[in-house]
Amino acid sequence: MSCKTKSKFACEFNFDLLSISLMTLILLIVIISCDNNPKSMNNKNLISPEKPLFADDTHSYSDPDKAYTTHLDLKLKVDFESKTLNGTATYDIRAFDADVIVFDTKMLNITKVTSNIDKDIAYTIGSEDPILGSPLTIPINPETTEVTIHYSTTPESAALLWLDPEQTTDKRLPFLFTQGQAILTRTWIPCQDSPGIRITYDATLEIPDNMLAVMSASNPTERNETGIYTYKMEQPIPPYLIAMAVGDLEFGKIGDRTGVYAEPSMLDKSLFEFGDMEKMLIAAEKLYGPYLWEKYDVIVLPASFPFGGMENPRLTFATPTIIAGDKSLTALIAHELAHSWSGNLVTNATWDDFWLNEGFTVYFERRIMEALYGSDYSNMLALLGYQDLEHTVEDIGHKHGDTHLRLRLEGRDPDDGMTDIAYEKGALFLIMLENHFGRERFDQFVKDYFDKNKFQSMTTDAFIDYLNTNLLNESDEKIDIRAWIDAPGIPDDSFRPKSNKFTHVETAVAKFLNTQIAPEYDWSTHEWLHFIRQLSDELPESSMSILDKAYNFSVSGNSEIAAAWYEKSINTGYDSVNIKNIQEFLLRVGRRKFLTPLYKALIENDQKNIALAIYKKARPNYHAVSRQTLDTLLDL
Ligand code: BES
Ligand code: ZN
Repeated sequence: MSCKTKSKFACEFNFDLLSISLMTLILLIVIISCDNNPKSMNNKNLISPEKPLFADDTHSYSDPDKAYTTHLDLKLKVDFESKTLNGTATYDIRAFDADVIVFDTKMLNITKVTSNIDKDIAYTIGSEDPILGSPLTIPINPETTEVTIHYSTTPESAALLWLDPEQTTDKRLPFLFTQGQAILTRTWIPCQDSPGIRITYDATLEIPDNMLAVMSASNPTERNETGIYTYKMEQPIPPYLIAMAVGDLEFGKIGDRTGVYAEPSMLDKSLFEFGDMEKMLIAAEKLYGPYLWEKYDVIVLPASFPFGGMENPRLTFATPTIIAGDKSLTALIAHELAHSWSGNLVTNATWDDFWLNEGFTVYFERRIMEALYGSDYSNMLALLGYQDLEHTVEDIGHKHGDTHLRLRLEGRDPDDGMTDIAYEKGALFLIMLENHFGRERFDQFVKDYFDKNKFQSMTTDAFIDYLNTNLLNESDEKIDIRAWIDAPGIPDDSFRPKSNKFTHVETAVAKFLNTQIAPEYDWSTHEWLHFIRQLSDELPESSMSILDKAYNFSVSGNSEIAAAWYEKSINTGYDSVNIKNIQEFLLRVGRRKFLTPLYKALIENDQKNIALAIYKKARPNYHAVSRQTLDTLLDL
């Protein structure tokens, strides 16, 4: 990022000695403030950052080449009675010969637009596209530096999930959380909702005075009496990373830079589960350079949260289903932490480039886990991931365009194309490069990649250029980049992960099939998962029953083991025994990764009526992200 001083400012001085030393001092200050520190990027009067190169994003109405936002000042009142947010979004803007600036909006109620020079602007709202929402077009002139949009959200605003007290863990107070990725931020904040656009933000929230609100920004750790809180995100981020959660929350510290927010009854369990977080942060920095977001906290949300985790900067949002009691599901934290580099520092420019976020992050996540727990551990993660990839390729079709790393999502909801391909094929691509060039060289390459492109967005083409310039051209050998980026399936030169621990599990499965005896094993969660995955869908009910009695899978407190076992139960017909537990799970948990395979299995095994009956009861507890997938799956 380079910077320019404002023109003309030198001309006002006479060049006597005093002025010259004054000028030197000013120049020095300007130079110091023109480092790469993103904090200085927003100082309008001193410097104006160069206009970034914006990729063409088919999922945003905004036209940043003409006019783009640089800073947001958000003021919102959170009203649990009406389940709406009400307030203003004020943007600093930069324009280039433009007479309008365009924002993305969806499911919002816009009431007024003002600017630094006009108290009532005649804005227009375009017709609504079912995926993209509507463009909000605001006339501007060369003097316009700031626009304010007055608005409220609606009950349809898909980013928001408003939970009644009964739907929370402690059942004392209501809860609200947001989910922005991929294109949902526009349903709670009018914004230029493209991952290629970066803004800093300030926020003021007014909430009920017995609750606490946190954002992807600097956060309070205690409640105050006023119910008014302020937040600052000083590093420029894409709008999909703006996030908020309001509830019965408490904070607990883990290390100097790490901590946890959770409902009171979850706090101690969470602090134990994530006890290695500071170590993860240190391991991550050792691999790929300094952590540039100051704090790294996790908030444990109610079980309705539709994802495992979401990498909101400074504050990862996480599902409580990773609290297993034995720290065995914390690779997810390593994953979200890794996004602090891959995704949040260097960001996919469009959703077609999603693999740049997730492929790098899966690769990085496993390197963090290897650093903390050794390669036996990370190899298990890699092999489970490989199995997921094989499944997904089978599912989508070996020749299908959605198995390319570079996606073509124009005209579609980006959510529909975001599969394990980006994650696992993306990570395999990087593993292939690591194997080819050696770990030392590849690590240096990745570290430099994050450093040289920090706080910027990246297209797949720009990445290939970067790769060619900084790694491939140094080598004589040919690597078939196209086979990875723009061709389907799993390329021939991909590496198949191996795990000794899993080989032992496979022996144990064979032994069980022969003897129908289920001995005790001192296994990790991942070994158990591999065990369950190895079982055939033809296994008789009697065998399922022996395993269940020996290992208590049906009542497992480990969500991954329970979900894998429930799916196996439905596929083998053992669910007649197990349906109560399955139903309880589907009513309690809203994590889409678990819901989709379970509902799918019910449908495929002629139990759609049961699936529908459960879904109708469970749906109010699910976030719009999960609802959208399941409505389609169940033809609602
Ligand atoms: N950024 C994703 C979640 C996401 C992806 C939200 C696409 C919306 C659209 C997050 O980092 C993620 O990948 N979460 C995974 C966990 C991970 C360990 C694979 C999840 O939620 O399962
Ligand atoms: Zn991710």
